[in-house]
Amino acid sequence: MSIPTHNVQKKIVVFASGSGTNAENIIKYFQKSHDARVVAVFSNKRSAKVLQRAHDLNVKALYFDRDALYNSYDVLHILEDINPDLIVLAGFMWIFPKDILKRFPNRIVNIHPALLPKYGGKGMYGMNVHEAIIRNKEKESGISVHYVNENYDEGEVIFQTKTEISEEDTPETLAEKIHKLEYKHFPEIVQQLLQKKSQ
Ligand code: GAR
Repeated sequence: MSIPTHNVQKKIVVFASGSGTNAENIIKYFQKSHDARVVAVFSNKRSAKVLQRAHDLNVKALYFDRDALYNSYDVLHILEDINPDLIVLAGFMWIFPKDILKRFPNRIVNIHPALLPKYGGKGMYGMNVHEAIIRNKEKESGISVHYVNENYDEGEVIFQTKTEISEEDTPETLAEKIHKLEYKHFPEIVQQLLQKKSQ
């Protein structure tokens, strides 16, 4: 008997360090889909709001520390058990260890709140990015979804879209514009990547 593979739900794992509004948006998007599901959310911060958001949406929420990620391979082993089709970093602030990258090639993506390669790299996360962009009087910003490699924000870019910056914009209003773009596009990009993998 052959098992129909087209009905098998794809598994997504999300990593996040903070509030987790993107994580929540992705969880909800796929809870309405038959094709894929967020099966777990991992966070390196015990008090991160993202863990509560995941729990409230009936998604397994897991806290890990530096040792579990970089030394004991506990995180790697849990990921091997889950065997996710895609690992999505949504506001995750630590570098990803080489062993996990090697184990899941082309299966780990990140979202960055700027138009890479500009405003990427160590220290460039969250509000720091928007503050630097406003300080430099940039005329536009945007979002980048990219594959993850061993350096911050350097893997191949998969998707970018822009928004204009007006003279009235502040880091806070820019952050709002960027979040809107993220909510609109990130789940769709994840969906497209999963479809591409099953072709
Ligand atoms: C998002 O804007 C994401 O692009 C950014 O952190 C924010 C998390 O917001 N990621 C980075 O800066 C990665 N370098 P959220 O916790 O509300 O989803």
